[in-house]
Amino acid sequence: MKAAVLHERDGVPRYEDFPDPVAGAGEVIVEVVAAAVENVDRAVAAGTHFAARAMMPELPAIPCFDGIGRLPDGRLVGFGNPRPPYGALAERTVVAEGAFAPIPEGLDPAVATVLPSAITAISMKVAAGLKPGESVLVQGATGVAGRLAVQVARLLGAGRVVATGRDDEQLRELDADEVINTTVGDDELLDAFRRNRTDVVADFLWGRPTEILLRAMVPAGFAFPEPLRLVQIGEVAGADLRLPAESLRTSGVEIYGAAKGLGPATMGEAYGQVVEWARQKRLTFGLERVPLRDIEAAWQRTDLRGRRLVVEP
Ligand SMILES: NC(=O)c1ccc[n+]([C@@H]2O[C@H](COP(=O)([O-])OP(=O)(O)OC[C@H]3O[C@@H](n4cnc5c(N)ncnc54)[C@H](OP(=O)(O)O)[C@@H]3O)[C@@H](O)[C@H]2O)c1
Repeated sequence: MKAAVLHERDGVPRYEDFPDPVAGAGEVIVEVVAAAVENVDRAVAAGTHFAARAMMPELPAIPCFDGIGRLPDGRLVGFGNPRPPYGALAERTVVAEGAFAPIPEGLDPAVATVLPSAITAISMKVAAGLKPGESVLVQGATGVAGRLAVQVARLLGAGRVVATGRDDEQLRELDADEVINTTVGDDELLDAFRRNRTDVVADFLWGRPTEILLRAMVPAGFAFPEPLRLVQIGEVAGADLRLPAESLRTSGVEIYGAAKGLGPATMGEAYGQVVEWARQKRLTFGLERVPLRDIEAAWQRTDLRGRRLVVEP
């Protein structure tokens, strides 16, 4: 079969022949229909993700750990966790029986590949307890997941929405009440965050911008802290930050991981909700569809501007 094959850590996958997967006991072959290439897939390929060893223990291997495909009986499903070295960027892959869920009738498979990023945004409610009317800061709002988070915040009934990013033109495209460009100097950014304190933060950046945000939440003098619930989702601006003790002790900041509260029930509910919103066209996002044979050039693209790269074998 044809596949996108990675030969070196942090290399670029190439369109090549690869041995067809053979299903073992308790496994099933999936004909891949669509797979999104996300930051997590790049981090696994580069070996920098915490699960990289488990997901891609050796090379050569095929990247991407989930996608949409057809089972041998013709059912269209979303699948996950293919058995290494198989991944989703191939004509076929192999997964454990049960490592898939049906895709509802009429939902474009390419659209379905993007929905997990919207499900993640529901962590504002599941992990951070967002209530209608509360204000939200989307930290890193110009990427695919950030743009979805702005929309999900509105759909969950948020009041004021503040969005941060590095590009004014892209920030203007968002349905936000206030935007902050994080490329300004530290003091200016600190002031902007102080003026725009929210109830909840959906953080896709970590690194410098979130370090400054947390510093901005420390009161200037003795005062009762105001609560702020930050849900940590992504780390495109840095895997680490400096967290002075006072940023927690006196600020009212509570930090949650996006996985908090996730389980089969909350996941199923979130999935049903985003499918419903997608069908009603209340969630919109850009897709860049490419055929598998173009993977080498597509993997290296830097011009996506908030559109998801979706590979269709
Ligand atoms: N936990 C989950 O389930 C989950 C789900 C989805 C996403 N995520 C994570 O969320 C993050 C964003 O994902 P995505 O799919 O939205 O990515 P994406 O579409 O590739 O967008 C990346 C965004 O990050 C910004 N960015 C890149 N480098 C930056 C830096 N050094 N400083 C500040 N901003 C920077 C980009 O801004 P410019 O436009 O200015 O370049 C762009 O807005 C990733 O860390 C991803 O792994 C997690």
